[in-house]
Amino acid sequence: MTEALREAQFDGVVNLADVVFTEAQIKAAVDGIAARVRADYGGTPFTLIGILKGAAVFAADLMRALGDYPLSVDFMVVNSYNTGRKTGSDVRLLKDLDHNPAGKHVLLVEDIVDEGLTLAYLVNNLRSRKVASLRACALLDKPFHRKSSVEVDYIGLEAPDEFLVGYGLDWQERFRNLPYICKLNGVSLG
Ligand code: IMP
Ligand code: MG
Repeated sequence: MTEALREAQFDGVVNLADVVFTEAQIKAAVDGIAARVRADYGGTPFTLIGILKGAAVFAADLMRALGDYPLSVDFMVVNSYNTGRKTGSDVRLLKDLDHNPAGKHVLLVEDIVDEGLTLAYLVNNLRSRKVASLRACALLDKPFHRKSSVEVDYIGLEAPDEFLVGYGLDWQERFRNLPYICKLNGVSLG
C-alpha cells in the first residue's frame, strides 16, 4: 500500500489500516476454491450466482479461474450493511436472477459470511425455487458472530474479527476497488 493511501482520510471518520490479505494471498485462495469446485462438480454444468455488489470482484476472478469449465453466470443483488453490524434478519432482495434457477446446479458466490443471515436468506430463497443442487462459497469467513448455522461449502480465507474493505468489500460504497483487503479503522462493529 502506498503511504498516501495509508494516510488517506475519508470524511475524517475512517482511515485504512493494515493490509490483512495481499493480492497474492487472495489469488491463491481463489485458485484453491476453483480447483475444488472443478473436482467436486466433475464437469457437470452449473450456474454461478454472484451476490452483488460485494462479491462482484471475487465472482469475476473465480469464474476466470474456472477457465473453460461449462458454467453460466447470473447475479442477485441483496442489501447488506455498509456502516456497521446492522444486518438483522430483514435481508432485502433488490434484484432477482435473470434466469429461473429451477432444476439447475447452483454455486452461490458471496464475499464474506459474518452473522450468516444473508447467506441463510439466499439459501432458503434458492431451495424454495427447486434448484437441483446448491453449494455456497465465500471468499472470507468471519465466524465470530454467527446468528445462523448456514453451511458454507467453500471458504477462501479465515478473516479476523475486524471490519474489512477492498476486493469488493465496502464501507459506505467506498474501497471496493482496492485489489487487496485491509482493515478499516474508525468503524464501530457494535
Ligand atoms: P451477514 O448476514 O452478517 O453474514 O452479512 C454478510 C454481508 O455483510 C456481506 O455480504 C457483506 O456485504 C457485509 N459484511 C460483513 N462483514 C463485512 C466487513 O468486514 N466489511 C464489509 N462488509 C461486510
Ligand atoms: Mg455481500
